[in-house]
Amino acid sequence: MNVRKALGLSVSAASVAAIALTACSTTEDASTHEQAALSTAGGHTIDYDGYSLKIDGKRLYVWSGEFHYWRLPSPDSWRDVLQKMKAAGFNAVSIYFDWGFHSPKQGVYDFNGIRDIDAVLEIAREVGIYVIARPGPYINAETDAGGFPGWLVTQAGKARTTAPDYLEASKEWLRHVDAILARHQFTDGHGPIILYQIENEYSNGALDAQYMQALIDQARADGIKVPLFHNDVWPAGNWKPGTLGGPNMYAFDGYPQGFDCSNPETWKPAPDFRWTRGLSPNTPMFIAEFQGGAFDPWGGPGFDKCQKLTGPDFESIFYKGNIASGATLQNFYMTFGGTSWGWLPDPGVVYTSYDYGSAIRESRQLTAKYDQLKRMGYFVHAVEPLSKTDYGPDLTASNAKIRIRTNVNPDTKTQFLLVAHADTTSTARDQLTFPLSGPDGTYATVPQSGTLEIAGREAKMLVAGYDLGAQRWVYSTSEIMTHARIGARDVALIHGTTGQEGETVLRYAAAPKVTVESGDVTATWDADRKDLRLNYRHSGLARVRIEGGARPLELLIADTASSAASWRQDTAAGPVLERGPYLVRDARVFGSTLALSGETREAGELEIWAPPSTATVLWNGRPVRTTRTPSGTLLGHLDGPAPVSLPELTQWRHRYETPERAPDFDDASWVAANRTTTNNPTKPPAGQPVLYADEYGFHHGDVWYRGHFRATGAETGVSLSATTGTQGKYAAWLNGVYLGASGNGAHAFSIPAGALRPSADNVVAVLVENMGHNQDWNHNDSHKEPRGLTSASLVGGAAPALAWKIQGNLGGEDLADPVRGPFNNGGLFGERAGWSLPGYPDRDWPKTTLPATEPTPGISWYRTEFSLNVPQGPETSIGLRITDDPKRRYRLQIFVNGWNIGRYINDVGPQRVFVIPTGILRTRGSNTLAVASWGDDDGTGGLGHVSLVDLVSSAGAP
Ligand code: GAL
Repeated sequence: MNVRKALGLSVSAASVAAIALTACSTTEDASTHEQAALSTAGGHTIDYDGYSLKIDGKRLYVWSGEFHYWRLPSPDSWRDVLQKMKAAGFNAVSIYFDWGFHSPKQGVYDFNGIRDIDAVLEIAREVGIYVIARPGPYINAETDAGGFPGWLVTQAGKARTTAPDYLEASKEWLRHVDAILARHQFTDGHGPIILYQIENEYSNGALDAQYMQALIDQARADGIKVPLFHNDVWPAGNWKPGTLGGPNMYAFDGYPQGFDCSNPETWKPAPDFRWTRGLSPNTPMFIAEFQGGAFDPWGGPGFDKCQKLTGPDFESIFYKGNIASGATLQNFYMTFGGTSWGWLPDPGVVYTSYDYGSAIRESRQLTAKYDQLKRMGYFVHAVEPLSKTDYGPDLTASNAKIRIRTNVNPDTKTQFLLVAHADTTSTARDQLTFPLSGPDGTYATVPQSGTLEIAGREAKMLVAGYDLGAQRWVYSTSEIMTHARIGARDVALIHGTTGQEGETVLRYAAAPKVTVESGDVTATWDADRKDLRLNYRHSGLARVRIEGGARPLELLIADTASSAASWRQDTAAGPVLERGPYLVRDARVFGSTLALSGETREAGELEIWAPPSTATVLWNGRPVRTTRTPSGTLLGHLDGPAPVSLPELTQWRHRYETPERAPDFDDASWVAANRTTTNNPTKPPAGQPVLYADEYGFHHGDVWYRGHFRATGAETGVSLSATTGTQGKYAAWLNGVYLGASGNGAHAFSIPAGALRPSADNVVAVLVENMGHNQDWNHNDSHKEPRGLTSASLVGGAAPALAWKIQGNLGGEDLADPVRGPFNNGGLFGERAGWSLPGYPDRDWPKTTLPATEPTPGISWYRTEFSLNVPQGPETSIGLRITDDPKRRYRLQIFVNGWNIGRYINDVGPQRVFVIPTGILRTRGSNTLAVASWGDDDGTGGLGHVSLVDLVSSAGAP
């Protein structure tokens, strides 16, 4: 019988289906039987046991990277990123769906253009990569309100509970997003979605199981059939399968290096997660988010340092450590971070760039981290016994500083040896030997000849006792990257750190014929054991042909650079290996034609291990002349990329705005900010109206207030308080006279002589920046912290009350620009009047040159147009650099063709280069750049030097 029902708990639709299938008696059985219902749901089955996920009954090592389409407002580039991931061996992509990005107003949902998730999922299907769907409702993700829409922050009910208003809104979102996700499930015979996440790190404090169960039930009611999981914040055992609110699979997150990138050489130890097996023994070890980089705050050390903190050495030690822990689903957060463009960032933790120091940079360029992921990604797919292992005993290394953990496949007895420093933070270089005993016998000392070295912060995952194609792989001190049968032979690509020695032992019935085609490799035949032992140093690419097994073996022994330059593609005609280019993104076979697509960074060789039927090779659609090498590969030459020349930005026009400060500005059309009650846990001071911007439908960007009062003449000051979020600011004027500016918090402004108009209408004008809403990580409604003015009063005399008007982004929740969406614009005059847009008639604006100074405090705009004519292609990535003395105090919003591609604070940083998403930027045509600058009255406002940067050829960090 169904356990939930027996306990009097709510019964989900899917578990009802499970009851019909068969009865069960334990909590584990409950989830197993829900699984049975999933498996019969459509054209494919998704199943799992304590070892791994199984797709159509076949075990799959899920190697996944996190990607957020909403941080790449350029559908053309979605394919580029997903292809790059697939080319590195990722078989899955994990995607958060950001509720606030799709819903400007309750009941209004937009899934078009840059919000077209049908397109994201269809591209994933075409690219051939599974999707792990994570629609929240809460996602965290360093984004505004952790993904909650602006309109949700005014709700009375506590978020992330069964409070009726919140729960109904959550279900509204799920119904909309699930309607699309459900169409793309793998279980239905099409579509890439294999897993679906409920909530996000709902792990701390009081947890509402009915809420979690309601989300599960909603997903099932919406037709979601794939297994459900939740990502516990760490392995705390929350939401295990079979409990109320527990989805099918247990998963957890891990960020062992933390998020301060200031000291990237200082490491934390790598975790050993073996102890977590007991938390959910009947589901595989699933690390739903493991550190792939780190976020960086305003004023932070910058992403180059995050790239270093989580570099290839970190990936090797920590991710292989997870493999040894038994994880068979790993997702790296982020693999491509992208851009928190417009007002997307959570202000407390991030600025515009969400580069994250990840393997694929914000500019979509590949890094050494990408190469490392590729080495591992290829390995976890090629060596199938890895997806089913038990823990073996540690081996005793001759060097006590080294620890060797083992995992053993119980069916094939294949051993996986993780060789690394016991102190995973060690930077020492050490040598060792170890005894090995396995299905192929006992070896007292491995390596038998030469040395095995572990450099500082290096981990090797060695394989022993393995049927590699038609060869018997006794062991190797090199790591296997991939292997495949190509034509009549096996090809194996193994690798090691440049300069280190390696030893590989294969077993044959009789002494095989060994031909060293290139490299310095010695072969020794051990007639007693029937072992062929190869000894070599990893240097370039050595090639050895071994004939003696059922098929010949072409053994390719790569060093660090050669493994990075190697690619594998699986085509309908079988696997293809390539060597040379910066990227081979895709391979297709049409008859005797092999069509490759990819990128080069310089002219160089293209070598291909192709099916023998291959007669013609195309590269990006153009024929490549190839010759057949003695070893049977095809060798051709590829050109480097055409140089890109970018124009100088010299023709600028400038105009000061800020008319709202003037007493006679017409604010008749503005909304009266006169509410006296609010759901917000923070209440305004007694007698004052609620001034929070969100209450009036202005959720993102800058907000203007105008407070009218009849002066007695005794007023001496204006006392204001605003909550802006980290690094936010506000500025005030009285009757057009500047009073000054403040950061987040309270500030008393004194009224300068002559500014007051006794016995007349006076206007306090206040511009408040809303840097974004806090996340709600601890589910304590912290996203509801007000934004905008929280209190305002006059100082002196009888202090008359102020009557307020408010104006934020044009249209409020009824977006004036639904294409660019809720996060693109706030309420600056220029934004409301179209100054950020291409085509705005600025010809009567005065001309200026940069750098420029704007002496008047407030907002002024700089506009220019430029034409580009760069070769088209996914490799294009152009950025905008601001260069200035960091002492100047101004902040910018940068609009390219009307899109808010970044926010810049000159005196805070650290971001000074902004990636302009391709697609928003016309790389062949005319572009409009409009910059809104908010300066103070200290004479340092204005704008520094602005230039375009080619991020592909500079290959650097944005
Ligand atoms: C996790 C969270 C993610 C993201 C990440 C840090 O705790 O689930 O959404 O915030 O931390 O980048």
